[in-house]
Amino acid sequence: MTTVTLIRGDGIGPEIMDAAIELIEATGAKLSWEEKPAGTAAIERFGAPLPQETINSISKNGIAFKGPLMTPVGGGFRSVNVALRQELDLYANVRPATTLQGVTSKFEDVNLVVIRENTQGLYSGIEYHVDPQQQAAHAISIISRYASERVIRFAFEYARSQQRRKVTLVHKANILKLTTGLFLRVGRELAAQYPDIEFNDRIIDNMAMQLVLNPAQFDVIVTTNLFGDILSDLVSGLIGGLGVAPSGNYGEEVAIFEAIHGTAPDIAGQAKANPTAVTLSGALLLRHIGCPQESVALETALRHVIKEGQHVTPDLGGSASTQSFCLAVKEVLRAGG
Ligand code: NAI
Repeated sequence: MTTVTLIRGDGIGPEIMDAAIELIEATGAKLSWEEKPAGTAAIERFGAPLPQETINSISKNGIAFKGPLMTPVGGGFRSVNVALRQELDLYANVRPATTLQGVTSKFEDVNLVVIRENTQGLYSGIEYHVDPQQQAAHAISIISRYASERVIRFAFEYARSQQRRKVTLVHKANILKLTTGLFLRVGRELAAQYPDIEFNDRIIDNMAMQLVLNPAQFDVIVTTNLFGDILSDLVSGLIGGLGVAPSGNYGEEVAIFEAIHGTAPDIAGQAKANPTAVTLSGALLLRHIGCPQESVALETALRHVIKEGQHVTPDLGGSASTQSFCLAVKEVLRAGG
C-alpha cells in the first residue's frame, strides 16, 4: 500500500481532485491518501500557506497528488507552488502533451514532452527594489552547472526510458550568454554521452514559432524555468488547452503530480471544471509508484470518453458536469476499457 500526500487545492481544486481520486481508486491501485493543507485553506487554519506538517508529510511519503493553489498577483504571499518545488528540490517538471482524439485543436499529431528546470532561472525568488521610491526593481536569474546538468541528464534519461528519439534544448544564449549560455554548453557536453539520442537546440523565440508551425518535429524539449513555464502552456494549447495537460515534478527523493492549470476562479463551484488534466497527472502518479497497468487503464478510459464526446465538460464542447464526466470514465473502467 503506497501512502500519497493529498493537497486538494483552491478554486476548482477540490472538485477535480475528488473526481480524479474516485477514478484512481476505481483502477484498483492499492494506495491511501494523507490529506494535508496548503494555500488559502492553510492560511485560515495555520496562518501560513505552506505549513511545515504538509512539507513533512510529502518528504516522508515521497509522493504527493496536488490540486491547484491560488497565488496573489503583484503582492501578498509567495507562490506555494514555487516554494514546494524549491523546498523539496523538485528539479524536473515534466509536462507531456499528446493529442487527445475528440478534443478540438489545430493539430492531430502532437506527441511531445516539455521538461522544465524547476528550481532556478528567473524563478529563483530573488527580487528587490533598487531605489527607496520603488521605481525600479531587479530580478536575479541563477543558472548553475549543477542544476543544468541534472535536469538535462534527466531529459536524456527520460528520452531513453520512454523510447523517444530526440532532445531539443531551448535557450536564449545569443543574448543571455552567461546564464542560458551555460545551460546550452552543459547540454552539448551531455549530448556526447547519449549518442543514441538525437540532440539539437533552438533559441526560445524561434522555438515558439516552430512549435506553432510544426509541433511534430519535436519530441523531448528541455529548457530553463521561465521558458519552460511559457512553452508548456503553449504546447497545452496545441492539444486543446490547459484542461487536458498533466504534469509531474520530480526530485531525487520526492515527486508531486498536478495539473498544469490553475484554480480557474471563473468557474469554481459551478461543477463545470474538466478533471482530465489532473486525472492524467494521476495516471503519471500510478506509473511512478509501479502500477503501469492501472495507469494505462485510467488513461485509456479517459481517452475513450473524450473521443466519444457524449459526457465531456463545457471546455471540451460538451455540457456534462465534472461528476457526470467522472462517472462515464468510471463506467468504462469498470467495463474493462
Ligand atoms: P487558470 O489555469 O486557473 O485558468 C485559465 C483559464 O483556463 C480559465 O478560463 C479557466 O476557467 C480555464 N481552466 C483552467 N483549468 C480548467 C479546467 N480544469 N477545466 C476547465 N477550464 C479550465 O489560470 P489563471 O486564471 O491565470 O490563474 C488562476 C489562479 O491559479 C492564480 O492564482 C494562479 O496563480 C494559480 N495557478 C496555480 C497553478 C498551480 O497550482 N500549479 C498553476 C497556474 C496558476
